[in-house]
This record gives sequence, C-alpha cells and structure tokens, in this order.
Amino acid sequence: MTEATGTAPRKRLLIRTWGCQMNVYDSARMADVLAPLGYAPTEAAEEADMVILNTCHIREKATEKVFSDLGRLREAKQAKGGDMVIAVAGCVAQAEGAEITARAPWVDIVLGPQSYHRLPEMVARASRAAGAVIETEFPPEDKFDHLPETTAPQGVTAFLTVQEGCDKFCSFCVVPYTRGSEYSRPAEAVIAEAKRLVALGAREITLLGQNVNAWHGEGPDGRAWTLGRLLRRLAEIPGLARLRYTTSHPRDMDDDLIAAHGDTPAIMPFLHLPVQSGSDRILKMMNRGHTADDYRRLVDRLRAARPDLALSTDIIAGHPGESDADHEATMALIRDTGFAQAFSFKYSARPGTPAATMAGQAAEEVKDSRLAEIQALLRDQQAEFNRSRGGMVVEVLVTGPGRHPGQMAGRTPWLQPVHFDGLANLAGRIVPVKILAGHPNSLSGAMAAPVNTEPRERPAA
Ligand code: 5AD
Ligand code: SF4
Repeated sequence: MTEATGTAPRKRLLIRTWGCQMNVYDSARMADVLAPLGYAPTEAAEEADMVILNTCHIREKATEKVFSDLGRLREAKQAKGGDMVIAVAGCVAQAEGAEITARAPWVDIVLGPQSYHRLPEMVARASRAAGAVIETEFPPEDKFDHLPETTAPQGVTAFLTVQEGCDKFCSFCVVPYTRGSEYSRPAEAVIAEAKRLVALGAREITLLGQNVNAWHGEGPDGRAWTLGRLLRRLAEIPGLARLRYTTSHPRDMDDDLIAAHGDTPAIMPFLHLPVQSGSDRILKMMNRGHTADDYRRLVDRLRAARPDLALSTDIIAGHPGESDADHEATMALIRDTGFAQAFSFKYSARPGTPAATMAGQAAEEVKDSRLAEIQALLRDQQAEFNRSRGGMVVEVLVTGPGRHPGQMAGRTPWLQPVHFDGLANLAGRIVPVKILAGHPNSLSGAMAAPVNTEPRERPAA
C-alpha cells in the first residue's frame, strides 16, 4: 500500500477482505485510489477513519460474517463520536445493497465491484449526505480505465485481474448476478500492468478472473488472442519468472492454452480447475456443460502436455438432487484424478439462483457427512502429494523471511509453501531447495548446493 503524500491530512484506512483473490486484488486497488486522499493503512478498527469491508456473497456463511462485523464496527464508530466512514464493497454490496442500509444504517457507502474508481467522490458525498451513498451499477471498462496505476512496491508475487464476470450460470452460483457478464481487459493494458508489476519487484504474476481462461481480446499484432497467447507474451517480459492463472472453467481450456503449458516454462505446473461434481447427472443439473469423463480427458491432455502438472479443484457436497450414487461418483473422480490441493464446500442455497428452488434439497446431516468424506480423501491426497516431494530438489521462489530466525519462506512451482534454512536477503530469487519433509499444508527443506536456476535476470533498476 502507498504512504500518504503531499499535504493531505493523514488518515487511517482499514480494509477487511473476504472471499476470492479477485477481492484481494480489488482491496489493493481501493487502497491505491484512496492513498492520494491521505489514507494510510491500519489494522486497528478503533483508530480507523475509514473502514471498508470487501465482501463475498458466494456462500451464506460469508455473508453473515459481514453483518456480524458491521455490528462490531457500529460500536467502534460510536466510540469515535461517529467519526468513521464505513463502506461495504464487493459482492454482498452488489447483491444486498438495500438490505445492508436497512439492517446497518450506520453504513455510509455501499459500492459494487465495478465502482471502486469512484471511491474518492463517494467519500466526499458521504461526508455531506444524511443517508448512505450507494453505487452498484458501472460497466467494468469504466473501472479499469479510471483506476490509478499501481505504484506501491509489490511483493515478489503479484495478482493481476485480466477478466471479470461470468456468463456460465451454474445452477448454484451467484457470481453471474453479482459480477455481471464476462469482460476481458485489453491485451495491451494487461501487458503494460504486468511490466509495471515486474518493475515494482514482482517475479511471479497470477492472472485473475472468475473465468480467467475465457479471456480473449485483440493482441498488439491485431490478431484475436486467447489466454494461451497472452501467457506466452507475458512470459517474454524480462524478470518475470513465473506465471499462473486462476480460476478456469473446464469448458474454456482450449488447445492453445493446453499447449502453452507444455511449451512455456514460465507457466507453472499447477492448475486450479474446478469440477464441482463427479456425477454426470449432477453436472447436468449444475449446468456445467461438461461430463465427468470430459474432465478426466482434459486432465489427461494437460498432463500429456506437462507431465509434472498438479491439479487443484473445487467440489460441492450435497447439491439438490444428489443421491448416494452421485456422491460416490464424485469420490471416484477425486480418486481417479488425484488432487494436490482442493477446496470443498457444503452446498449453500443462494437466493435468486436456480438451485435454490430445485426439488431434493439435501438435509444438513447428509451434506455434512458427504463433505467430511470428500475432505478426508482430499486431505490424504494433499498430504501424499506433499510427501511425494520429499528428497526432491525443487526450485523455490523466495518470498521473504520464514517464521524462525535463519529461515526463509518461499513457494514451489506447485504453490506449496516451503520453509527452509537459508541466508537472509534472498527474496525474489529462485533457489534450489532440497525437500526434507512434506507436511499436511507445507514443506520444509534446506538450500541445496547453489546451481544457476535463475530462469532470467531481473531487469536493471
Ligand atoms: N454453495 C456451495 N459452494 C459454492 N460455490 C459457489 N457457489 C456455491 C454454493 N451456492 C463454490 C464453487 C466455486 C467456489 C468458488 O465456491 O465450488 O467453484
Ligand atoms: Fe459461478 Fe459457474 Fe461462473 Fe464459476 S463458472 S463463477 S461457478 S457460474
């Protein structure tokens, strides 16, 4: 985040972020937008002049947490004599603007994900207005054209939003309603932002989008580009060592993108590819547009292109209509595929989505026991994958100091966090680390004999 500059009075900004990495990216951009107004970051609500809750609407639990946080913020605001601007941003704001102002009238600003560039104006309006200022309607092109360029120093790993929205309308999901239809940022804008991030210190960039592999646009060469071509172009940026992208839909994995995994070493051998269910009947009810075997074949093709590719996925337990046999089909798909990591969720009915009113809503106990089975299997697979790295020398991108003195932290090509004994000041370097142990969620190791594993040099400052 940026420190306050110029003569603007110094104010304190607290941003709390829920949900996906797109929200993490958006929170950083909101901090960028507010920095010129004198807002510097704080972690403490009591001293904040402005608090932004950047929210997630995807499951009911996430939404309820926002309302309980708002209850606590009311007290903090009262303790400061009302001298605190409270804003609710993100998908809950988009979907439930009216409910927020009704349930929590101490909220000053409600803004949807496409309105972040308008924050300064909204802060000014909020200080004059009696009621809440609400903005939930702007097209994404407007936002990206008006957000300031990132100038704050970046970590070694950075996010870059290239795509927003979703036209897939999976039965259970609110995203098409809260984030709107699919929009791709122009290639030139993405390349320029990636270069800026690298100049600011990023060595790994993760491209973000709700349907990131649906990204398409006109390339600088005037041709129609899809994500594979964009990744190949980004891989040419000097100093950028690693590329990732998330989240992908199986339907949008085109031949060129699969090939790029094989011919572009900067694309890391790890892919988050949600499958949601292993039952064709449920996949159909979910409107996913693919079968379980389509997914298996896709994974085979990806692994043929990049044999060391590891996969991550999302699974939903207890979608309406799911039988024991459907659940078993999901377990079978997980067993067949073998995931290095995964996120699994109990189905949560979201108002306004088709699944919410489908017949055959599963009982909570059924959802709980299926989820527990799924999670036990996924946990075993993750632990096994981590253990399988034991004894290997892997290239680790050093992200900073580790938890203990004399330790460094980094991540492997497969996105596993690694702690290893090593010298300080290696942040941003890619070093060989011998993995000594695989734990449930991380690895530990020691620096191996220094060999030249730097894919490319950093650009001159
Ligand atoms: N209930 C449970 N999980 C959901 N997800 C999306 N909507 C729901 C819902 N209504 C999960 C999907 C998606 C991930 C981000 O959240 O697995 O891929
Ligand atoms: Fe939601 Fe499906 Fe779109 Fe993913 S593809 S954001 S699950 S509607």
